Amino acid sequence: MKNICESIIIENTQLTKDYWKLKLEAPTIAKNAKPGQFIEIYFNNSVKIFPRPFSIAGIDENNLVLIYKIVGSQTKKMTSWKTGEQHRILGPLGNFFQINNIGTNVLVGGGVGTAPMIFLRSHLISKGLEPKYFSGARNDLEYFPEEVKNSQLFISTDDGSKGFKGNVVQHLEKEIQNFKQPINIYSCGPKKMMEALKKLGQKYKIKVQLSMETLMACGMGLCQGCAIKTYSKNGEDKISLVCKDGPIFKAEEINFHG
Ligand SMILES: Cc1cc2nc3c(=O)[nH]c(=O)nc-3n(C[C@H](O)[C@H](O)[C@H](O)COP(=O)(O)OP(=O)(O)OC[C@H]3O[C@@H](n4cnc5c(N)ncnc54)[C@H](O)[C@@H]3O)c2cc1C
Ligand code: FES
Repeated sequence: MKNICESIIIENTQLTKDYWKLKLEAPTIAKNAKPGQFIEIYFNNSVKIFPRPFSIAGIDENNLVLIYKIVGSQTKKMTSWKTGEQHRILGPLGNFFQINNIGTNVLVGGGVGTAPMIFLRSHLISKGLEPKYFSGARNDLEYFPEEVKNSQLFISTDDGSKGFKGNVVQHLEKEIQNFKQPINIYSCGPKKMMEALKKLGQKYKIKVQLSMETLMACGMGLCQGCAIKTYSKNGEDKISLVCKDGPIFKAEEINFHG
């Protein structure tokens, strides 16, 4: 049930050099949002600038929490947004993670992929589950969800500046034997990481759900700008739209070599 509204900025705070937290009052979207879904933010209500997609990182009463990274013109502009300003948003968009209540839920987040994982983690905790959280980055300048209890948080950096030295999938593979079966993996992050998780899932026969990120324009299935190559249930080649059929896909559905 998507809704377009003029959201009010409640908070816009810098977390690290490039990462910011944005809290927007949007009661109807907050009430309906599920972990894995995203919103589109419009800029100056302009039709000339495409809206930009952002995952919902949490719900705080009537508010949506987003974690965003400065990568280009509009995310740079967002850092100047002030409390009380209104900005048009559309959401909640896309599908959501399917929760498994038995075994071990493992969340794997890299870079801006951390945002949907934080929302999923709070949701699982509210259901009495204790997910393991693997957070990976290039170096210690990235954003890590430090609020996660240490015993459940596994940090890795490619350069070893924080936590395990290596990538997040290598870290997960090192720990995986210690987790109670069945294991369910949920993830969002760079394409290479997602592909490595698909392989890991095949190797250990683990169900993996991936939240895919692509360039997007309309966010609702009209422009075909977010098309990716996938496989149907019978293994035939198919095209899917990340904004409408996703962003969450079973790992076996994604054709990383198409
Ligand atoms: C479903 C979904 C959820 C997202 N959730 C978040 C989130 O929670 N937090 C967050 O910070 N970002 C998220 N993103 C990415 C975010 O939408 C882009 O970073 C943003 O649109 C960039 O806008 P810009 O104007 O600053 O950069 P632009 O000037 O548009 O682009 C700057 C550079 O980044 C590249 N780029 C832009 N978007 C993407 C993308 N999706 N994938 C790969 N490269 C890209 C461009 O090609 C260009 O090289 C999400 C994307 C999708 C599809
Ligand atoms: S962004 Fe337009 S169809 Fe997906």
